[in-house]
Amino acid sequence: MQDSIRVGIAGLGTVGSGVAKILLSNGHLIQSRCSRNIELTAISSKSKSKKRGFPVEKFHWEENLINLARRDDIDIFVELIGGEGNPAKEAIEAALNNGKHVVTANKALMAKHGHQLAKLAENNGLSLKFEAAVAGGIPAIKTLTESLAGNKINRLMGVMNGTCNYILTRMENANLSYEKVFKEAKDLGYLEADPTLDVGGIDAGHKLAILSSIAFGTEIDFDSVYLQGIESITIQDIDQAKELGYRIKLLGVSQRTDNGLEQRMQPCLVPVNSPIGQLENAMNMVIYEGDNSGQITLSGAGAGEGPTASSVLSDIIDLARDNKVPTFGKPVTELIKAIPTSIPAQGAYYVRTKLKDSPGVLAKMASALGDHGISIDRMRQTQHDDVAAPVVIVTHKTLPETLGNALTAVAKTGVILEDPVVIRIEDIQ
Ligand code: HSE
Repeated sequence: MQDSIRVGIAGLGTVGSGVAKILLSNGHLIQSRCSRNIELTAISSKSKSKKRGFPVEKFHWEENLINLARRDDIDIFVELIGGEGNPAKEAIEAALNNGKHVVTANKALMAKHGHQLAKLAENNGLSLKFEAAVAGGIPAIKTLTESLAGNKINRLMGVMNGTCNYILTRMENANLSYEKVFKEAKDLGYLEADPTLDVGGIDAGHKLAILSSIAFGTEIDFDSVYLQGIESITIQDIDQAKELGYRIKLLGVSQRTDNGLEQRMQPCLVPVNSPIGQLENAMNMVIYEGDNSGQITLSGAGAGEGPTASSVLSDIIDLARDNKVPTFGKPVTELIKAIPTSIPAQGAYYVRTKLKDSPGVLAKMASALGDHGISIDRMRQTQHDDVAAPVVIVTHKTLPETLGNALTAVAKTGVILEDPVVIRIEDIQ
């Protein structure tokens, strides 16, 4: 049997403690699976006295995580402190400059500095791995870099933020407002310290940018991800979508188009009977469309101690087995610059607004849409009162810009009483 591979963990929050606990509880099983012992040698976190559910005193304690990253008695530095910059970044650099492989769950840092850090790892003949950074317990990275390595990926999609999925499904199932469920999610501890990361779509956007890089062989380009959060989704739109056979999800889509790489993270209507439409609570789902594999759908818990620690362990076990895969699935020097598309793919749209209740208003709306080449698929009128005629329209496929121009033209006719709510409908089976 090979010598033990030695691990140091920086950050003993939920995930870090979870990794330590799995190493202690499943040590024999893991050893038999990789013919090697994985030994936790040293740890570091903010407070030494805090109870963490495993015997902290059994391991060397480092106050300073940079010192942990440089220790002679570790082979793998596991970064689980989070944050898109220092101290996580400098600790990872210290580890890579001192001959240690790195495992991280830090999507913000990978989305921002992943390319630079991967270059440093490769130049030093080391691995930088981050399975836990995307979609918690789902093997989203390994599936793409290994299982689907024989495929050209045509499109990838996913629900990658469990908190947003919880908020949207809870609003629907309990008929509650966004504000009420947001507060509930906060009380349950689901939200990141900065909630905008979740509800603003940023956290999910980081994950999408990471997966796009692997799928399309491009440098990570988070800045070009079109981002829209869920803050303005109302129970009214959730109900209307349901009446039409859809559910609203914070959906990421990334695909190569003739005009360049399209990456968007935005609320979308998806068919209620599609796998994504059925996704409940804080679950995540990732879908890959390979030219040979066809559609591959993975779902599971997107956060939490067990699922996320399981993904960290998967990276550690790969290193113990000496399973070398480049950080982004190909050597970092071969990644090409992403050329973001200026024109997103056409889509169908849901439009909800209130019109004046007078003769000919629907005709004016329909004719403004028609003048812009937009065909109406379905139209519903709801909860009519004396002055206002609420209307929901589902369009056939069009460009968002064209729809925007058409709605401006409708507004100019003076028939609109309320700014239209516009949500994309995504073509998903
Ligand atoms: N805040 C994230 C989510 C988990 O709700 O999915 C970590 O990325």
